[in-house]
Amino acid sequence: MSAADSATTMGTPTGTLFGVGLGPGDPELLTLKAVRVLQHSQCIYVPTSRLSNQDYVAEVVNRYADQQCEIQPVTFSLAATAEERKKHWQLTAADIASRLRDVQDVAFVTLGDPLLYSTYIYLIRAVRQQMPEAQIETVPGISAFSFVAALTNIPLGEGLQPLTVIPSSNDLNQIKQLINAGGGVVLMKIGRRLQQIIDAIDQADALQRSVFVSRAGLPDQRIETDLNQLRSAPEETGNLAVIIVQGKG
Ligand SMILES: C[S@@+](CC[C@H](N)C(=O)[O-])C[C@H]1O[C@@H](n2cnc3c(N)ncnc32)[C@H](O)[C@@H]1O
Repeated sequence: MSAADSATTMGTPTGTLFGVGLGPGDPELLTLKAVRVLQHSQCIYVPTSRLSNQDYVAEVVNRYADQQCEIQPVTFSLAATAEERKKHWQLTAADIASRLRDVQDVAFVTLGDPLLYSTYIYLIRAVRQQMPEAQIETVPGISAFSFVAALTNIPLGEGLQPLTVIPSSNDLNQIKQLINAGGGVVLMKIGRRLQQIIDAIDQADALQRSVFVSRAGLPDQRIETDLNQLRSAPEETGNLAVIIVQGKG
């Protein structure tokens, strides 16, 4: 990837925006393609958040980025309204679009997979709005829930079982209904709801086929196969955590 072999739109050379999935937090779970894109990007946008694994993201980016590469931290908007948050993404999108027009290859990194509950989704919408001809290439990453399944050897789906992924659900009845329906259930963005979610799983009589993993792949990773052990855990235990409820066999 260099200006010489850059993308062209209607004959005009442009750079490419690469959305790069860095995987869940184990440096060995980065794809070869992700490494290659990081090595060749002229600018890498690094979203930062209070809850995300910033050290891992910074370490990976610093390890692979070219010395000449510009690193651009992107803060999450804390604005109260969706409209204000959208404006925030539009500013980053405008910056990226201007680099693409200058024939720069730009990367935007995310934890896990870029197209699963990631800020990258808002970003590419905003870039497409401002630069419909933008060349966008997504490099998939290993999602946190895939890694959690691997760490615990819990199948995500078996035979004809459906699998439902629920982000940040406040609807505990929905969780119970899905578990009772017999398919596998993945709960992400658990946060402060950890205790209510454990109660819902218990009421669906599925504690014995559930696992909890927080901070997977990080030095302080926690794996619990008995969710009762989390009953009096501090409130922050549910941050950066996934629960998998295995489908009924
Ligand atoms: C904003 S979503 C991003 C998901 C990410 N794009 C993916 O593919 O995994 C953040 C949620 O992903 C999960 N997550 C991400 N990294 C994790 C990790 N290292 N260990 C456990 N859960 C993680 C948690 O449920 C967290 O609340």
